Amino acid sequence: TMVEDARNEALKRIKDEVLTLEESPLYEYRTKNHYFPVIGEGDHYAKLMFVGEAPGRTEAQTGRPFVGAAGRILEELLESVGMNRSEVYIANILKDRPPENRDPLPEEINVYGPFLDRQIEIIQPSVIATLGRYSLGYIMRKFELELYLQPISYMHGKSFAAKASYGDISIVCLYHPAVAVYNNKMKDTLKKDFQIVKTLISHHE
Ligand code: URA
Repeated sequence: TMVEDARNEALKRIKDEVLTLEESPLYEYRTKNHYFPVIGEGDHYAKLMFVGEAPGRTEAQTGRPFVGAAGRILEELLESVGMNRSEVYIANILKDRPPENRDPLPEEINVYGPFLDRQIEIIQPSVIATLGRYSLGYIMRKFELELYLQPISYMHGKSFAAKASYGDISIVCLYHPAVAVYNNKMKDTLKKDFQIVKTLISHHE
């Protein structure tokens, strides 16, 4: 359809812009290491969008989000609620890998955040699931919910109603799947929280 083409084209434009983003503090690190930017992937009409933090090494080597150890956990969590990655959209705040997977810097969030904002406007998800504390902080501030920000140990599994430009949405706070790589208790917590994600999606149908 024309609409589908428009979404595809708008997302491609983001990819082209990030590819040549020489002003990014991570541009030189990307090119030196022959890494790819990681924009996002999935259904351009997804009701559910995941927002992670930043690409890791495997992601930067392939140009795809959540394809390493954390990605395997994310897939298992999706399967636990009868979903798979092809029916959701997966993005990150940062589109380039920070050295040694260190935490994102405010300057980096400022550079890449507007691309995530555009992805949200294009895909128009009714549910945004944040993965980890950086995406939680970014999305809560973006939707003017910063008053509700608490430690993620308190916020995980909680959801918030928010107003997007295109309509009413839900934001749901999740731990980053990487916390469950060596911690089965955390995996159980994430599985419980994914049930909430599933319920929220059904409420937007
Ligand atoms: N962790 C993230 O936050 N994003 C990825 O794409 C991979 C690992």
